[in-house]
Amino acid sequence: MTQIRIDKVLSQMNIASRSECKKLFQSGRIRVNDSCVRSSSAKYDPQKDRLYVDDRQVIYQEYQYYMLYKPAGCVTATKDLHEKTVMDYLPQGIQRGLSPVGRLDKDTEGLLLITNDGALNHALLSPGRHVDKTYIAAIQGTVTEDTVRIFREGIEIGEKKPTAPALLEILNAGAVSEVAVTVTEGKFHQIKRMFQAVGMKVLFLKRISMGPLKLDAFLKPGECRELTQKEIQELKRSQGLEG
Ligand code: URA
Repeated sequence: MTQIRIDKVLSQMNIASRSECKKLFQSGRIRVNDSCVRSSSAKYDPQKDRLYVDDRQVIYQEYQYYMLYKPAGCVTATKDLHEKTVMDYLPQGIQRGLSPVGRLDKDTEGLLLITNDGALNHALLSPGRHVDKTYIAAIQGTVTEDTVRIFREGIEIGEKKPTAPALLEILNAGAVSEVAVTVTEGKFHQIKRMFQAVGMKVLFLKRISMGPLKLDAFLKPGECRELTQKEIQELKRSQGLEG
């Protein structure tokens, strides 16, 4: 790896904002190997050099991976003039360069991966890869075994082709039914349009998994955490990327 600005690393790793970095440099709290560094535009080589803030070593990670429990009421975008976005739920100052992998509707909640790993983002969204995405939904109307069969066979939702086979599991059938749906595609409003095509309405939608990645049961809506090394590896491997 080549030389990279220290303030960029510290802000990307959520250790200090660019303006906080200035103060750290000025007060002599930043060290590369054995030398104190005072210039706020200083660079270092993460592969050769050791970077310290006070006596704490900073291990640079080029890519960041966050799991957000997206709450309803925000849009899946990096910025928006009028609406709250999913990026507003990440820790302050680390949003730069990160983007959500795929899109959940404003009223949909659940698992959203946010990363600056472009290769993984691209692989997970590529139509040829058929990554499983599982949702829990509340449906107005009684979901029956007939609905399960129709979902398995594919549904005409106004696209060039019917939807790919989807796995519909009935968790509770009634005037309002609870289901789990697994799809391998990511068409616009896909789940809502599939139910609409069979005369039903989605009242609530929550994504609980994407490929091997599962929504952390300890997260509450609006909370996020970094992925573990194991989760990153599993995701990459699931896409044939080096993990
Ligand atoms: N399908 C939908 O209809 N909405 C979502 O947000 C995700 C999948």
